[in-house]
Amino acid sequence: MCGITGYIGFREAYPIVINGLQRLEYRGYDSAGVVLYHNNELKLSKTKGKVSDLELLVTREINTAGTIGIGHTRWATHGVPNDVNSHPHTSQSGNLAIVHNGIIENYDTLKKALVKRGYTFKSDTDTEVLINLIEEIQITKKLKLGKAVQLALQQVFGAYAIAVFDKTKPNEIVVARLGSPIAIGVGKDNSEFFIASDASPFIEYTKEAIYLDDEEMAVIRLGRAVSVRKITTDSLITPDIHELELSLEQIEKNGFEHFMLKEIYEQPKAIVDTYRGRMLPKEGLIKMSGIEDNLDRFLNARRIIIVACGTSWHAGLVAEYLFEDLARIPVEVEYGSEFRYRNPIISDKDVVIAISQSGETADTLAAVKLAKSKGAFVFGICNVVGSSIARETHTGSYTHAGPEIGVASTKAFTTQITLLAIIALKLGYANGALSKEVFDDYLKQLELIPDKVAEVLATNDHIKYIASIYKDSTNSLYLGRGYNFPVALEGALKLKEISYIHAEGYPAAEMKHGPIALIDENMPVVIIATNNEHYDKLVSNIQEIKSRNGKIIAIVTKGDIIVKGLADHVIEIPETKEAFSPLLATIPLQLLSYHIAVMRGCNVDQPRNLAKSVTVE
Ligand code: G6P
Repeated sequence: MCGITGYIGFREAYPIVINGLQRLEYRGYDSAGVVLYHNNELKLSKTKGKVSDLELLVTREINTAGTIGIGHTRWATHGVPNDVNSHPHTSQSGNLAIVHNGIIENYDTLKKALVKRGYTFKSDTDTEVLINLIEEIQITKKLKLGKAVQLALQQVFGAYAIAVFDKTKPNEIVVARLGSPIAIGVGKDNSEFFIASDASPFIEYTKEAIYLDDEEMAVIRLGRAVSVRKITTDSLITPDIHELELSLEQIEKNGFEHFMLKEIYEQPKAIVDTYRGRMLPKEGLIKMSGIEDNLDRFLNARRIIIVACGTSWHAGLVAEYLFEDLARIPVEVEYGSEFRYRNPIISDKDVVIAISQSGETADTLAAVKLAKSKGAFVFGICNVVGSSIARETHTGSYTHAGPEIGVASTKAFTTQITLLAIIALKLGYANGALSKEVFDDYLKQLELIPDKVAEVLATNDHIKYIASIYKDSTNSLYLGRGYNFPVALEGALKLKEISYIHAEGYPAAEMKHGPIALIDENMPVVIIATNNEHYDKLVSNIQEIKSRNGKIIAIVTKGDIIVKGLADHVIEIPETKEAFSPLLATIPLQLLSYHIAVMRGCNVDQPRNLAKSVTVE
């Protein structure tokens, strides 16, 4: 949801800022812009469209010299994505420039007051209101930029990560955060600083980063240590300097055509990275301090409530099966957005698990805060280290999937399921739901999953061929039962989000209560019909589809005969325990969507209207 970058130091700022925007483009790509400072002048260039559009424009519009700059890539909230509404925004005097990720909810009231004081506005954005509010305070109270930003933010409701620059004080940039992330890369001896929504824009320059917490701001001044303050109380905070583990290789495509494909292929390794050091099949052990230290809370929980959004919510649905089946603990799965607005009944007897790849999803974060305020114990499952949800939860575990850049989530999903499976197994063994023998067998089977995922990936050409047949469909149905019902939902989501084909996921048995009416010879039905306890029922469902001339693409267990005889196409996956079958069944669905989207000429890494990290509610 918008990415911001900035640089102040001794190097040319433009290449750093523009490169940073490219790395942050997963956060939004409706428009992009930069402002650079050189020789007492602010040089602004911005446009509707992608960072590549901006790059074409910049050199025609401005001279890119200068060692200070801020940039923005936008996912539009207030105001349509046009040139004027693009960031950066400047203040009325032209002295101040701002980039902003988030929403100023009371911007209308603030705007009316500023209009009364003679301010005029070029854009429809909440951000232009904020920069003029800062300017108004700076002028009327005769304050330095940092103080004016602080007082302005005290009047603001909403969410923000901002970087503000004043051309009359060109040795500093002021940054602040509430709800949206911001990282500050610290150069050697404070000779240069990098600002970004995550650390990826500056990993080749420094390994040291400060992550602001909510309600914190920092004045970044050349040659001085970063000074961080609480926005509300003005108290000084000693910032923690984090050592970054991210590498350049992790955020590049490494020969793959798209990040999504690279990330699909990374899944065998990502799954190993998730269970490495935690699951020890030889010893028959699962070691997870976040669970062990809080075992009583989990074992005495009245229920587990899982909160998440999007693909992470689908992982939560798989976890419902895992926890209930393996650990016999009741589970409810909630959308973050619904949970927080329906006055949920929740107490200190509940354990809440928040699942989020980015750790920044505003609705999930709000659900976490609500659960905490009601006394629940909150456990986070995040991929991005140091993210807001990781910090807001009482404890948690990282998936260690590595950076996921493709907007459509792939390896985040399978690693979340892996982690949730380990937790369910640990709890199931601890509370006696699983015998030692059964527990050990699960561990051994889970250890085999990465190789089995690799086997499924090897069927890519066959899946690509199936994609070529169905690429022009306008609708499709995804069906699954039990553990694979959420996989059907996830398969449908993958297809619609990157190929713009309408797709619905359904529990296979529910098909007869509505979706069956849609089936005709033009309707591809993807059905997960692996060898499990529902197999016979699934075979009946397939027959029902067949008799209405629907086209069947079935995901089956290797060696299957019956479904093979009925379906138009089959994709085989290796045999595994039913509880782990989502980890395999989801792979062909990811590849199918990917190939269909590529064949339709869609931008798979940056599908229209979407963003990877949704930091607005
Ligand atoms: C966005 C992304 C999805 C993601 C969802 C939740 O909608 O496009 O891919 O599943 O947010 O994100 P999270 O980071 O909380 O898992």
